[in-house]
Amino acid sequence: MRLIILEDASVVADWAAQFVLQRITQFAPGPGRHFVLGLPTGGTPLGMYRKLVQFHKEGRLSFKYVTTFNMDEYVGLPREHPESYHYYMWNEFFKHVDIDPNNAHVLDGNAPDLAAECRRFEDLIQQAGGVHLFIGGIGPDGHIAFNEPGSSLVSRTRVKTLAYDTLDANKRFFGNDMSKVPRQALTVGVGTVMDAKEVMILITGVHKALALAKAVEEGVNHMWTVSAFQQHPQALFICDEDATLELRVKTVKYFKALSEEHQKMIADRPVDEQRLVH
Ligand code: GLP
Repeated sequence: MRLIILEDASVVADWAAQFVLQRITQFAPGPGRHFVLGLPTGGTPLGMYRKLVQFHKEGRLSFKYVTTFNMDEYVGLPREHPESYHYYMWNEFFKHVDIDPNNAHVLDGNAPDLAAECRRFEDLIQQAGGVHLFIGGIGPDGHIAFNEPGSSLVSRTRVKTLAYDTLDANKRFFGNDMSKVPRQALTVGVGTVMDAKEVMILITGVHKALALAKAVEEGVNHMWTVSAFQQHPQALFICDEDATLELRVKTVKYFKALSEEHQKMIADRPVDEQRLVH
């Protein structure tokens, strides 16, 4: 696990988008050879999506041979509801790039058989050959996707009943009325994300500082499900300065020094690549 500390949320967004650009470009996708991307929703990744759209418009990045799997979706919210994750993904990202909608998979929270829908999603990931890069965000209680505190760390895609903290955090999207927030969601499991070859988790803001400290400095703990990624061989936590406020000084110093060492090593590379290699 590697922690990369950047100045603020906008630098995190730029860094994450550049990283995605680099990974897709390196992979050189083409017919029969898709890059498989796991995607989050929420406020945190919005800046990254905007940057990816910009790269696409500049002709630097195509999603023609990219397959995506979204982390989660509310149960029972119509697709066209402005707070559904279908709506978010289509409006913030998919409609602005050249992805084939048949390759952009979002769980169907209105499926008649939700358990079958979750199995279908896992099967589709298998058929795609697994996820190359899973991008995630976290809730202030350290949940990844909708893997609420207490979730199994080997869980797969399933129905979850949302925790009070999540309803509270997400009520801002529903006119600050907690009773309007759906009570259940479909979500990939911690195990589903752990299976990805590489994982990048974006964490910004002081309200996520405790979760970041639990994730990085304490043991793996199912009450802070993002902590599971300490055990992933290729996990990157990308955070801003505000999110480090609960970390020990020595932790911050250690990871900043690592990044500086790294910068020295790559100083002779083209500017575009310098912040990317890790
Ligand atoms: C929800 C989503 C998560 C997301 C989290 C954080 O709980 N299920 O996938 O990471 O919100 O959202 P935000 O980035 O808006 O803080």
